[in-house]
Amino acid sequence: MLFRILLVISISTLAFSEESMQALYMKNGCSACHGIYAEGIGATPRLIGRDANVLKERLRDLKKGKTRSAFGTVMVSFAKGLSDEEIDQMAEYLSTLKKVPPKERYELLPDEDDGSS
Ligand code: HEC
Repeated sequence: MLFRILLVISISTLAFSEESMQALYMKNGCSACHGIYAEGIGATPRLIGRDANVLKERLRDLKKGKTRSAFGTVMVSFAKGLSDEEIDQMAEYLSTLKKVPPKERYELLPDEDDGSS
């Protein structure tokens, strides 16, 4: 019985499902500022491939209202929208993503022009 309880606790705090984190990332609008691949846009930081512990700490700070930049306050309400468990799982999930956004992201760009026409 005790073992069962411990097992459930450890699963709920450590494991995350990639799909559920991806869905949460889209549902909570994270993509609007950080990009659909969490690659970062303009002043909004890149999140992919970052250290999970750093991301956790940053999200906890943001939840408490501590930002690093003037523009950072926009992030506070989004951090508050995540439970402590979701913060841990989101940080773990983001840290597992590849540092470089997938190539498809650039497929909509026009073909390179060689300047001859
Ligand atoms: C309205 C734009 C916006 C949205 C939406 C948004 N963020 Fe952010 N986020 C920011 C900005 C700006 C910062 C930089 C905060 C600072 O300067 O302290 C940031 C910082 C972060 C950081 C810390 C990164 C670092 O390098 O300090 C994490 C992690 C993060 N956001 C995750 C998320 C997640 C997860 C969501 C969705 C639940 C989300 N963000 C939604 C704008 C946004």
